[in-house]
Amino acid sequence: MKCLKINGGKKLSGNISVHGAKNGVLPILSACVLINGVSVIHNCPKLSDVDVTVDILRYLGAKVERENDALIVDTSQIGRCDVLESYMKELRSSIIFLGALASRSGRACLYLPGGCEIGLRPIDLHLKGLKALGYNVYTDGHNVCAEKKNVKGTEIVLPFPSVGATENIILASVLAPGRTTIVNAAREPEIADLVKFLNKAGAKITGTSAPTIVIDGVKTLHGVEHTVIPDRILAATLMSACAITGGEIELENLCPEHIMPTLPAFEEMGCRIDISKNSLRIKSPERLKRVKKIETMAYPGFPTDCQAPVMAALSVAKGTSIIKETIFENRFKHIEQLNMFGTDISINDRIAVVNGVKNIHSADVKCTDLRGGAAVIIAALKANGISTVKDIHHIDRGYECIENQLASLGADIKRMYDEKK
Ligand code: EPZ
Repeated sequence: MKCLKINGGKKLSGNISVHGAKNGVLPILSACVLINGVSVIHNCPKLSDVDVTVDILRYLGAKVERENDALIVDTSQIGRCDVLESYMKELRSSIIFLGALASRSGRACLYLPGGCEIGLRPIDLHLKGLKALGYNVYTDGHNVCAEKKNVKGTEIVLPFPSVGATENIILASVLAPGRTTIVNAAREPEIADLVKFLNKAGAKITGTSAPTIVIDGVKTLHGVEHTVIPDRILAATLMSACAITGGEIELENLCPEHIMPTLPAFEEMGCRIDISKNSLRIKSPERLKRVKKIETMAYPGFPTDCQAPVMAALSVAKGTSIIKETIFENRFKHIEQLNMFGTDISINDRIAVVNGVKNIHSADVKCTDLRGGAAVIIAALKANGISTVKDIHHIDRGYECIENQLASLGADIKRMYDEKK
């Protein structure tokens, strides 16, 4: 069983390039299903979620090759309209294939995606959107299917700016005749990047900064070359790792505007942030200060994916911080693991009370989910002694070779292939 051994107490320093966004490349790969041609997608991180999505594309009949950080995706031939249970169980976000596949092949049947460690992860908004467009959507308890009947553009009002539902509706409508308007659409930067990719391929989509996205259907899409935006959540994770160690690092190849929603929290912690066009420098104080209140919200609010990494940093701050998780109903599973280091964090429904402690000790912990795993790694970077972090398959879903990234900044961290050693 793989695990990470981390000898804490080292201040992080140096420069690091931020790899491509996991939550940007996944919908773009699904969007390739709509394209009758070859696309080249640069800045694709080497992540297990990307690997599974590539496996799904190949299963559907696409040819996909990797050349360094680029994926060459030939979707001229898409011969299947189902996605295997094994793939759907591994990767919840593959529900995004539903709209694209039904639009391209006329029909799509996907195994119902499981809930993730952070909540039920329902897909009702996805299905309502496709039904509103005229797809015949049905489930047989195991699969969810969508058939292209009399699909045409329409207005869809989302009760919540769901990222996945927005993406699925865009992909299901980009080749539909007429105009589709998504009101209260999600505004995450990854949506804007998906729209940029689709417009390069010949789509007609506007409005990605406003909460209304307008899609005018076109007949076909052609292959494109595109570079995925940098991963803003990785950036905030590295900033949290730097902050907890009292270090100073520079993040390169970053879109600073995408990270803006987290900067007030880092500045309230006492970090000094300097931004230039494509980079950000963070210098942390010897000891962080508490952040009075953080509340996760849809973009451009504080990202829910940054909640766990930032909480880890605040666990050793001077004072008490309050963190409210408003997006997912079960996204505090990392707290039990953090408290094994000697932190003092309690939960009251969706509110975490983080009483900062001065020192924390090493511990043997596990990753509860992707971002919860990042949180325990961050705590281990501070803890006195050698910590073991298990279940790191969660980490490999969204962070490319996390040990190499952190070691390049001075962390004493190794990946072990047998935790007994
Ligand atoms: C995307 O998940 C991201 N995943 C998540 O990142 C991220 O946390 C989330 O957006 C919010 O920013 C990818 O992009 C692959 P949502 P998604 O639909 O699309 C409810 C990570 O760590 N909801 O915006 O699933 C849902 O239950 C991952 O990288 C419905 O009720 O998020 C949740 O409470 C974790 N019905 C809220 O909306 C629906 O049909 C947000 O979900 C859909 C969602």
